[in-house]
Amino acid sequence: MCGIVGYTGRQQAAPILLDGLERLEYRGYDSAGIAVLSPEKGLQVRKAKGRLKVLEALTDGGKSLDGMMGIGHTRWATHGEPNDVNSHPHLSEDERIAVVHNGIIENYVELKSFLVSTGVSFRSETDTEVVAQLLGYYYRRCGNILEAVYRVLDRIEGAYALGILCADLPDSFIAARKDAPLLLGYGDGCSFIASDVTAMLRHTRDVAYMEDGEVAVVSPEKIVVYNALGAEVEKEHHTVDWDVSDAEKGGYAHFMFKEIMEQPDAIRKTVSPRIRDHRIVFDELKMSKEELCAFNKLYIVACGSSYHVGMVGKYNLERLLRMQVDIALASEFRYADPLVDEKTLVIVISQSGETLDTMAALRKAKRLGARILSIVNVVGSSIARESDDVLYTWAGPEIAVATTKAYSTQLVLLDMFGIYLAELFGKLPYFLYDELIGELLALPSKMERILENTEQIKYLASRSFNRDSIFFIGRNLDYALGLEGSLKLKEISYVHCEAYAAGELKHGTISLIVDGTLVVALCTYKALFDKSVSNIVEVKSRGADVIALTDESLADALSKTVSNILTIPDTHPIFAPSLGVVPLQIFAYYVALQRGCDIDKPRNLAKSVTVE
Ligand code: M6R
Repeated sequence: MCGIVGYTGRQQAAPILLDGLERLEYRGYDSAGIAVLSPEKGLQVRKAKGRLKVLEALTDGGKSLDGMMGIGHTRWATHGEPNDVNSHPHLSEDERIAVVHNGIIENYVELKSFLVSTGVSFRSETDTEVVAQLLGYYYRRCGNILEAVYRVLDRIEGAYALGILCADLPDSFIAARKDAPLLLGYGDGCSFIASDVTAMLRHTRDVAYMEDGEVAVVSPEKIVVYNALGAEVEKEHHTVDWDVSDAEKGGYAHFMFKEIMEQPDAIRKTVSPRIRDHRIVFDELKMSKEELCAFNKLYIVACGSSYHVGMVGKYNLERLLRMQVDIALASEFRYADPLVDEKTLVIVISQSGETLDTMAALRKAKRLGARILSIVNVVGSSIARESDDVLYTWAGPEIAVATTKAYSTQLVLLDMFGIYLAELFGKLPYFLYDELIGELLALPSKMERILENTEQIKYLASRSFNRDSIFFIGRNLDYALGLEGSLKLKEISYVHCEAYAAGELKHGTISLIVDGTLVVALCTYKALFDKSVSNIVEVKSRGADVIALTDESLADALSKTVSNILTIPDTHPIFAPSLGVVPLQIFAYYVALQRGCDIDKPRNLAKSVTVE
């Protein structure tokens, strides 16, 4: 999705903006642009389709643009094809106002016809240009840029994070937000805005999150924030504790591989502080034990891989709690009539904390009276702020579009929450509780064992990379695991693949299994091992080529049926998906590598999906 960065201070702005945009590249984009203001040269705008290096070449790494204040943008096209003209910043007709925008202006057609009727001519096909032109329109009438901004915000509908540069405002720029993330950064003699903290991490860790309806006037020494009514508001500052190096490749060829390797540590950081005296402690929970005991239903809502975490969670939590656990894709939940009320705890899962559908689902659940507990990686993100309770994963910044360490930490945290509730509800015998805590603590080192030797996975990937179609099959937790394994593979390697509950094969899918079809059979769920082996026999007898994943202790038994076997260390069944996902991530990585794909920035995908 689009990215925004803005800077005002004592240094040349353009190189800082380009560096910030580089940090936002991982979000996905198809063009980029910057606008810089200098007293001598006025407003200078450069934008270009394609990768950031095109813009860097055009501006000599930013050196050719004078000025100590500017705004920058990476665009992920929605309205109008990716080209130089449609790239941001967009200008008012008199070219005195430049605008960068994340989100979608829903009533842009109506506003555009209004402006055209007043004689304004448009240069681009974008919804964003309407904001720039409308600002120009009101600014010409009132002569005050802040007032013009408020008038524009009154008229536009939709979601926006805006950065606005006005040629008549020499050392301040303006920012505004509604339903799209925007942060303020307080540096030493300089200030920032950014859609994502990674864009300013090199310069400051002191940040504040803009709320819906707020407008900020950003100057080098201070940032003044006003609410929707124009009253000044005091912002709460937060210190970001992510390391700059966390957002760098650190010698790895790809962020995805680095993040796969970081999983044991990410899990340690997420789990260890929450275990004291061999017991799970959630100090951060605001809901009391009595309130938690009063819920009669859990409802998990999320998108993509976070939804797959929820799928594992549904199996595990229902088993642990003997309580109804529903799950829905956020994009479906938001337009459905879900059975949710004040007795429901809705668990919202999101790495970014900014996914628009997930946010809309959260708000719907709240309107229906439910309490919200979210599992989020980005501290202070919109979903975290709107939830009644947040459990943060401590995965650090995840840059690759394909999630790995965020998935793993979400999963382990959801399992922990399940174990915590089961104990609270009196549903767990103490010896099982003890065993589960022991296994939880052992997960990082077991994961390390998988990561120590990836040669066999690499070899199997080298034999599989040219397939047109791959099937993942599994039962119960293995089915939920297959959903993630298959998504990982398709999003980065562009190989068509599907995950099926193995028991469903006979109901249709088996017709697709022919000589040489690759089937990845997941057999880590011990209770249904024999059933899964039967499914393997079934697909093999139709000519399928099978790669199986199972626990070390079951490998021998499986070797009678399958020759290509990947193993994970044995663990308690509820944690098998946490280990099982690792070989599947690595398999997807190597298949994509062999196919020459852009692993960290797969086509058409964005890290944080802030549009519908
Ligand atoms: O930030 P979120 O967890 O809310 O994102 C949800 C999905 O967009 C995300 O998990 C997506 O499916 C990943 N690219 C998968 O690797």
